Amino acid sequence: MSDVWVFGYGSLVWRPAFEHAERRPGFVNGYVRRFWQGSTDHRGVPGAPGRVVTLLPGGAADRVWGMVYRLHAETREAILQALDVREQGGYERLEFDVRVPDEPGGPVRALTYVATPDNANYLGPAPLQQIAAQVVKSRGPSGANVDYVLELERALQGLGAEDSHVSELAEHIRALTAQDLERGNE
Ligand code: SIN
Repeated sequence: MSDVWVFGYGSLVWRPAFEHAERRPGFVNGYVRRFWQGSTDHRGVPGAPGRVVTLLPGGAADRVWGMVYRLHAETREAILQALDVREQGGYERLEFDVRVPDEPGGPVRALTYVATPDNANYLGPAPLQQIAAQVVKSRGPSGANVDYVLELERALQGLGAEDSHVSELAEHIRALTAQDLERGNE
């Protein structure tokens, strides 16, 4: 069997939490990353979902950066099963061509978890201000929804691959949490 790679563009960028043989920054072309998926099992709860990212088709010039991981042959089945459980809140395991800079063999075919608009937890678009307000009040078994956004922002900055949707949302969140602090000091 040839190498198995997993591409992460959300929590799998900054918290893969699985063993891997190699990891490389990489990107997919023709897609955008959006906080349009509801999370009732990680960053929210049923009835009060948080917001997490998914991939949606974009234009030819759009590009989503993330991290691609090559799995060890001995552990890959167990890892994929664990990832299927981790991503069970609406994500499907699809395959994407991921470009890896300086990879001589061309793009790598990588398993990628995508939440398509037909899943039950999909929330879809909303103004960033509204998404930020939802993120600020959401928390689930994996922790605060705010941390998910800010960790992703930081990880993308670390890759030199800022994503304006993520960084603008993070700005709205910082503005909202600063207002809350000011109110608390009044
Ligand atoms: C991913 O990180 O690639 C999928 C979405 C998530 O788990 O945040």
